[in-house]
Amino acid sequence: MDKKFNIRKESFFQVNDEIVEKLYSYVRDITLLLSSKIVLDLYCGVGTIGIIVSDLVEKVVGVEVVEEAVVDANQNKRLNNIKNIEFINSKVEDVISNFNNEFDTVIVDPPRSGLDRKTKDVLLKEKFKNIIYISCDAVTLARDLFELSTVYNFKSIELFNMFPRTYHVECVCVLNR
Ligand SMILES: C[S@@+](CC[C@H](N)C(=O)[O-])C[C@H]1O[C@@H](n2cnc3c(N)ncnc32)[C@H](O)[C@@H]1O
Repeated sequence: MDKKFNIRKESFFQVNDEIVEKLYSYVRDITLLLSSKIVLDLYCGVGTIGIIVSDLVEKVVGVEVVEEAVVDANQNKRLNNIKNIEFINSKVEDVISNFNNEFDTVIVDPPRSGLDRKTKDVLLKEKFKNIIYISCDAVTLARDLFELSTVYNFKSIELFNMFPRTYHVECVCVLNR
């Protein structure tokens, strides 16, 4: 996608190059469609999604727990000459309450366990304008959507066959107020 990414062995990176480009292009399209301006990229890994949407928005803040991945993310920021993104090395649940709905779009891409209690409580309380939920586990996604849909409207879901010949599927859901 015209971007370069440095990846340490400790850092997460999607393994299916062909499908991940389709997924990230789709997230770009959605970001544009939602007229997003200030974006939170939670569970950001080496900064991929935030970097890929950065030219469409005013500002991105990424949060990632793995220290090495954040070192990569900052290197990737420089490698791609991106100015409007910053990364925080932390667990999402430890910093999420510092963010408010100044952020119009929250992208979450959690591990299979999905969103934890505290993160969901803040998403429900702050009522962000848009949530783009990227999930690799349909069961925890369904659990989280059930709760989030008490406050947000479920707009769409798109599936990506990231792991062919397995039952796993990557989902991108769009929610808004
Ligand atoms: C499915 S990966 C997504 C990474 C990135 N969005 C991408 O597309 O490459 C999930 C990421 O969340 C990170 N992570 C897991 N638990 C976390 C937590 N509690 N707080 C912040 N990051 C976490 C993992 O280290 C991993 O990089």
